[in-house]
Amino acid sequence: MDVIYDCNVGSYLGIPIFLENGTIFGTICAIDPDPFLFTKDHVDKLQLFADMIVSLISKVENDSNNIQSQLKQFEALTAGISDKIGNSIQVIRGFLQLSLDNNSSYSNIILREVDNIRDVLKDFELTTKPPALIKREFSVDQLINNLFKEFEEECYLKNIMLVSMMEVTCNVHADYTQMKQVFKNLLRNAIDAIETNGKINVKVSSLVPHQLSITVTDNGHGIHPSIFEKIELPFFTTKENSIGLGLSITRRIINAHKGAMLIDSNCNGTCVLMEIPMNA
Ligand SMILES: Nc1ncnc2c1ncn2[C@@H]1O[C@H](COP(=O)(O)OP(=O)(O)OP(=O)(O)O)[C@@H](O)[C@H]1O
Ligand SMILES: [Mg+2]
Repeated sequence: MDVIYDCNVGSYLGIPIFLENGTIFGTICAIDPDPFLFTKDHVDKLQLFADMIVSLISKVENDSNNIQSQLKQFEALTAGISDKIGNSIQVIRGFLQLSLDNNSSYSNIILREVDNIRDVLKDFELTTKPPALIKREFSVDQLINNLFKEFEEECYLKNIMLVSMMEVTCNVHADYTQMKQVFKNLLRNAIDAIETNGKINVKVSSLVPHQLSITVTDNGHGIHPSIFEKIELPFFTTKENSIGLGLSITRRIINAHKGAMLIDSNCNGTCVLMEIPMNA
């Protein structure tokens, strides 16, 4: 009572400010030193102020959450890059040291790791500018067989069977390096999705004249429906040491070749279907 007396309050109108999560933030009030009868109009106006404060607070909270999540993404990204490049540099260093010590050459391993670093940097380049195509004639089955060789050892260790089914053998006119990147990304994802003992099937057929249909199918853990919408977003990843650029780059390359890509997945595995013009 003393406080009210000291403040010389004759009349008081207070509207509580409820935040979106139901907690009370405070009260907005109108005070008159004289006795005053507040009308519904006064109450409505004060309520409007209270609502404005709630929406301002929620905007500030959302902005700050966005900044936090962008920061987290950035942290994961830099951790992914430094991990990938760091691992390769460690391997290169180790084998160079061994070469010096034993007077022998491990050039193939060193070359593979240098290529890994180059690929990470190329991924970054592809996210910032649209891929310029350098087209030439090549056979898709040869490209796939070459790539299978690159993944052979890893698949052997994880007991993953790599199968290619070539229903057509033909040449395409496309960018070899970029198409290689497409299959590399998809095979990488398929291998990552299989813990051990699995099967990856790459099938090349031609359902429509002058068009290649290629499917990369795995029987891994599949893509959970809750993340399906996000998987092609740049920097989205569920893996600890990855950057999350594979599918977004793959989509850009397929689009640049005037092709189409469709991903289908359930808990029994994932199938990526691509339609690519033979003369892209
Ligand atoms: N074949 C697949 N099976 C299960 N999940 C997959 C498959 N392909 C993609 N995903 C999911 O989609 C996410 C995004 O894939 P994407 O290839 O873009 O990035 P990443 O593999 O995580 O990282 P990066 O390709 O840059 O090394 C993956 O983290 C994974 O959760
Ligand atoms: Mg990937």
